[in-house]
Amino acid sequence: MVAAENGALKGAKVGGMADVIRDLPQALAGVEIQADVIMPSYGFLTGLGAKLIHEFEVSFAGRQEPIKLYWLAHPKVQGANIYLLEHGLWQSSPGQIYSQGTSDRPFADDATKFALLCASVAKALVAGLVPMPELLHLHDWHTGCLAMLRALAPEYQALQSIECVFSIHNLALQGIRPLSHDTSSFAAWFPYLFAQLDEGQRAQIIDPRYPHCINPMRMGITLADKVHLVSPTYAKEVLLPSRPELGFFGGEGLEADLQRKAEQGRVLGILNGCEYPETLAQTSLERMGLTEFKTLLEGIESALVQWQGGRTQVSGVDMIAFTRLQALWRQASAGEFPDFLLTSVGRLTDQKVLILRHILPSGLSVLETLLQQLPQIQPKALFVLLGSGDPEIGLFFQTLAAKYAHFVFLQGYHEELSQCLYQLGDLFLMPSSFEPCGISQMLAMRSSQPCLVHGVGGLRDTVEDNVDGFVFYGEDIKAQGEALLTKLADAQETFGSNDWMQFKRNAKARRFDWRSIALEYKKQLYNIL
Ligand code: GLC
Repeated sequence: MVAAENGALKGAKVGGMADVIRDLPQALAGVEIQADVIMPSYGFLTGLGAKLIHEFEVSFAGRQEPIKLYWLAHPKVQGANIYLLEHGLWQSSPGQIYSQGTSDRPFADDATKFALLCASVAKALVAGLVPMPELLHLHDWHTGCLAMLRALAPEYQALQSIECVFSIHNLALQGIRPLSHDTSSFAAWFPYLFAQLDEGQRAQIIDPRYPHCINPMRMGITLADKVHLVSPTYAKEVLLPSRPELGFFGGEGLEADLQRKAEQGRVLGILNGCEYPETLAQTSLERMGLTEFKTLLEGIESALVQWQGGRTQVSGVDMIAFTRLQALWRQASAGEFPDFLLTSVGRLTDQKVLILRHILPSGLSVLETLLQQLPQIQPKALFVLLGSGDPEIGLFFQTLAAKYAHFVFLQGYHEELSQCLYQLGDLFLMPSSFEPCGISQMLAMRSSQPCLVHGVGGLRDTVEDNVDGFVFYGEDIKAQGEALLTKLADAQETFGSNDWMQFKRNAKARRFDWRSIALEYKKQLYNIL
């Protein structure tokens, strides 16, 4: 497997793809498939005890670039390997492996970085520096160039004898960059490569909407043998053109390529899995009590202190969260704690918050309307949202947190705290505009927390309306926002009833376990009988 992220290695996670790369090798080992992973070291992963095994050169834009190849035993899977590649271009800091705002074209810079990764992997394989696999499994746009090199570059022809599978975790990010925008030596690689291709080959790698741009995601789609999407519903949605004005996100310009592939029977949707540790099986179905609520507050407090580097005098949003926290703490100690706890955890991106930010005809956003509606049914209802990402979205939440006392917005990324929210919330909100698979809803469900989700992609495939959660639909963003509010009111009305207890039990009983999913990979995606 070739991937940019890997949740098995500290600092190499940004989104849900990292969880998949962390869990899949172990699941596949269970069905007798050895999955090794090759990825950049980013300059810091070698510090995990990796051993230097080769130094080699790869030809890139007519120059020879020096690459170091390291090896690491897989921390969780016996017999599986992780290979790390090192070059100055991939140098980054933990948790920040993608370029962000350091230049005016962060994605364009990343396109060159990951093109060098692909060339290096191709070289390491054909030169026999890592064992030649039976199958090459590529993940997301960062690895699309490798499918292209395998299909079109004479020097890597040896790779054509192995199957190549391309997984799409998020079609919204495609790594598009202008073909000849700048002249620095690395960026010159694409024009250099382009000059060696004929018309027909060029047509396969440029962006269908912007003919002066290359599109690595498209390379993976058109040139890999099979394309895999991370849920059955998402695999259908991407065959249709996106209609952002209607709140529908599908093929993102690549629907024609995906349709062609699908007609050949080469597009598959297989849901991601989730891990079900023993310790969680004991999670009580009871609603949290005072002790648990205090644990949550303590978690929030320590997270805040951590984010502020140990200082308790903080500014801005965390100050608001702090004050809110102290008030909640006092109330909880006096025996008063929320009668309904709505939770949400997620990256602050348009994908996740477009619906919440939508302004309704009343002039209020969907979120603000939600905040006004929430205490009408349970007067002491509380909404705790944890997330980091786009600062502008952060500001939107901060502003509302300042205005509504029953809204706690925690800006940051914090594993333990997200765990707390999955375990202690009454209802988990996931109103994504599109969701290739999604993991948070599975994590909430396994802790017996029902979810309120938009019926798209993996959310639709994992949550069943009025059985183990609540699913809303709408034909445009406004209708989606209104449907969310109606469903939330339904959920609040049902809360505490026998039906509700059954929803909790059903949610907890649902299994998206990696082992059976690994079998699907084996049969459908890898064609191993
Ligand atoms: C991306 C998608 C998410 C999916 C994950 C893993 O982060 O946005 O829906 O669960 O990849 O495939």
